[in-house]
Amino acid sequence: MDYETILVEQKGAVTLVTINRPQALNALNSQVLADLIHAFAVFEADPAQRCAVLTGSGDKAFAAGADIKEMADKPGADFYAQDFFADWTSKLVKATRKPWIAAVNGFALGGGCEVAMMADFIIAADTARFGQPEIKLGVAPGMGGSQRLTRAVGKAKAMDMCLTGRMMDAAEAERGGLVSRVVPLADLVAEALKAAEAIAAMPPLAALANKELVNAAFETTLDQGLLHERRVFQILAATADKAEGMAAFVEKRAGVWQGR
Ligand code: HXC
Repeated sequence: MDYETILVEQKGAVTLVTINRPQALNALNSQVLADLIHAFAVFEADPAQRCAVLTGSGDKAFAAGADIKEMADKPGADFYAQDFFADWTSKLVKATRKPWIAAVNGFALGGGCEVAMMADFIIAADTARFGQPEIKLGVAPGMGGSQRLTRAVGKAKAMDMCLTGRMMDAAEAERGGLVSRVVPLADLVAEALKAAEAIAAMPPLAALANKELVNAAFETTLDQGLLHERRVFQILAATADKAEGMAAFVEKRAGVWQGR
């Protein structure tokens, strides 16, 4: 399917989604949100698709933020009336149980940094720059920056980033725990696809479950999280893929997964 603001390619069991507004540094307007929600729903519904990668077109930006030009003239009360930005979490993050990776190829600022943090993990180009500069516009993060960034890098760096609006380079982002790997820009998409292919080759239910469990760590007490983990482990222990995985290990061969 053709979209106005994104490109979508299926590469085997991996869906590659590219935000494609390079002339605006891939700024996230409402059409980008609508297109991403649709593309991710198609990805989620297709049993042959197992992992997705989200990146930005061009070498300069993953996304330079929510579209400032779209927001500039919006009547103030509309933000609250429309619960502006709510759909990013409710229709994109929460509706996607399958794993997906952000491949950050340049500026990830404001909403761009926030969308990257919605992914299950971030692989960054060595040229990537992360920031929450909303304060300079007289606002604050609105798509999770104050919450997901603080959980990712802790209070000290999150406060520094949100209050000064400064950018973090890829090395600092990796040291701080915001990104899982840094790779040369030229290799970024290939490396992200390789990671996605590795995930796509895993037993599908186990992939869903591992994602669910790591996310639960941010929502629960330790006791509740440990109980949740044991129950999920016990459910997976009853699957055909667990029997196959353990048999394949003993027989020194690759497992063949059924997703049940
Ligand atoms: C709309 C944007 C944009 C954005 C860049 N552009 N960022 N358009 N929304 N967030 C457009 C520019 O207007 C320009 O268009 C073109 O992209 C190229 O950008 P330049 O500024 O000319 O490039 P450069 O000088 O290299 O500077 C790059 C940059 C800068 C440092 C990334 O563009 C920048 O600071 N952008 C804004 C970053 C930001 O504040 N993001 C947070 C947004 S607020 P033209 O037509 O002039 O060529 C947010 C949540 C807010 O995300 C929540 C509020 C409720």
